[in-house]
Amino acid sequence: KKSIAEESNAAGGAPKLKESSSITEHLESVFGQAIASAFPEFRDTPVIIAPVNSTSAKFGDYQCNNAMGLSKKLKEKGISKAPRDIATELKGHCPPSPLIEKLEIAGAGFVNVFLSKDYAASALSNLLRYGVEPPEVKKRRVLVDFSSPNIAKQMHVGHLRSTIIGESLCRLLEFLQHDVIRTNHLGDWGTQFGMLIAHLEDRFPNYLNESPPISDLQLFYKESKKRFDEDEEFKKRAYSRVVSLQKGVPNSIKAWELICNVSRKEFQTIYERLDISIKERGESFYQSRMLSVVEYLRGKGLLEEDEGRKIMWPDDTKTGIPLTIVKSDGGFTYDTSDMAAIRYRLEEELCDWIIYVVDAGQSTHFNTIFKAAERSTILNPLTHRVDHVQFGVVLGEDGKKFKTRSGDTVKLADLLDEGLKRSLLQLESRGRDKVLTPQELKDAQESLAYGCIKYSDLCHNRISDYIFSFDKMLEDRGNTAVYLLYTYTRICSIARNCGEDFSNLPEILKKTNIVLAHEKEWKLAKTLLKLHDILIKCSKELFLHFLCEFCFEVCTVFTEFYDSCYCIEKNKQGDIIAVNHSRILLCEATAAVLRQCFYILGLKPVSKM
Ligand code: ARG
Repeated sequence: KKSIAEESNAAGGAPKLKESSSITEHLESVFGQAIASAFPEFRDTPVIIAPVNSTSAKFGDYQCNNAMGLSKKLKEKGISKAPRDIATELKGHCPPSPLIEKLEIAGAGFVNVFLSKDYAASALSNLLRYGVEPPEVKKRRVLVDFSSPNIAKQMHVGHLRSTIIGESLCRLLEFLQHDVIRTNHLGDWGTQFGMLIAHLEDRFPNYLNESPPISDLQLFYKESKKRFDEDEEFKKRAYSRVVSLQKGVPNSIKAWELICNVSRKEFQTIYERLDISIKERGESFYQSRMLSVVEYLRGKGLLEEDEGRKIMWPDDTKTGIPLTIVKSDGGFTYDTSDMAAIRYRLEEELCDWIIYVVDAGQSTHFNTIFKAAERSTILNPLTHRVDHVQFGVVLGEDGKKFKTRSGDTVKLADLLDEGLKRSLLQLESRGRDKVLTPQELKDAQESLAYGCIKYSDLCHNRISDYIFSFDKMLEDRGNTAVYLLYTYTRICSIARNCGEDFSNLPEILKKTNIVLAHEKEWKLAKTLLKLHDILIKCSKELFLHFLCEFCFEVCTVFTEFYDSCYCIEKNKQGDIIAVNHSRILLCEATAAVLRQCFYILGLKPVSKM
């Protein structure tokens, strides 16, 4: 396979580029070289490349906007040069590139880039031949802390958001070839276990020999909490169980495990339904490391006495909110476990990037943890990257916090069931139950239900709150999973119904060239080739709605193409009289790009729907 690098060498000493870098990155390197050779004193100027959004073809496809900035810099040195002249010089110094058809100066001093059709056709052929390949990025070892519900408590819609966003981020980063560690920081430790264990001992005295039949752990939790609040003797015993648990007394450990297992099973069914893969490493894992991180912080002189507690300030100014590292009763807190966890992840798991996918309500907590980790030299901001990927709350259609009609928190299993019910109704309303086999119908139903729930979460800017509405997410128009999945199914059916076999694409590519003559063919090709830019942007900024918007754009641009370009011609009798191979290949390339994006977004396309 001919790489961009090889092609550009053939074109004569053009920038050496990795074959899979994105168009924007390629152009950054081209214009970076132009700046360096035309204005060596400004060689470090960051290159500004923007996609051209104008529908008018005369402005080209991308734009370099560095001329105005350079003009200012020259002025500061007493040299006056008009941006347009600078743009002209930049243009003259651009090394030849296989991606570029031509460069033009426009407006006050923009350099407009017109992409090469030959390059686009060959990039799409490669995509069909070898599959969608990831852009080249610097590899990192990244831990994604997501989902992370709490034992014995309801896994709520906030955890659902974390689960959905976290899973997609993992898929994105894995596709970019990072070394990804998926971690479930389960809330499985802490004082609440004292009362749970004490209650278990009373309710199921035989728990050591027989698994207790706790079906409703939330109820069990409520009961034990009530006793804890009302019964002094119980409260005392609960406290003593906390101590024995932390010491590792076998009976208490056993009771704790039994309780955790009940929750674990519940969480697992949700994960299976939503196709989530995650490895559990709960707070309990850090018990010994909490002891050692406390010693470590004490040794650095960072712990301060505060009414019996040991606190730590995030920085030397001693402002903001300090962390509580040791409680006055000697116990540890959420802060302690996160300090132990960040240290373990950076020093023992040797990660150089940690992503916490947790609701926005905890942003102060994470900012404090990050600062404290830096202050105690656990974290080195020059080599480590840490992100709190925060998200807003889920609201009901009334704009208030998402609750059931009776005001209770919504059980996730019930929510997924409701999604299944609604998506089946949607399919039936389209008469699909009459054409699909029972298995096909079931696949379509699940794909729709879970796809909608995930997509409606991912397609908004995660930072804002979002309104959960089955009616909205099941609409078949606009930027919804339904629209994308239907469009995808339609695209797949084109090659399937053209009367020829398009299953062996490399074979077909030997005989067929991709032609990008029609304006809409060209537009579709350029849209598809934005994929790498989008993936890089998503992974830099950790936002997935950019990818959703891209999918939507691909689908709408595809529809424009399909409406104006015949892929299959039929006569009046409806017989196929001609098949446009190049266009079928464009359909297949579109399907391949969508398939890859869908995978990252957790959407499962079905071939019939
Ligand atoms: N269990 C916590 C909660 O439900 C989330 C944990 C997030 N991860 C972390 N390292 N603190 O709020």
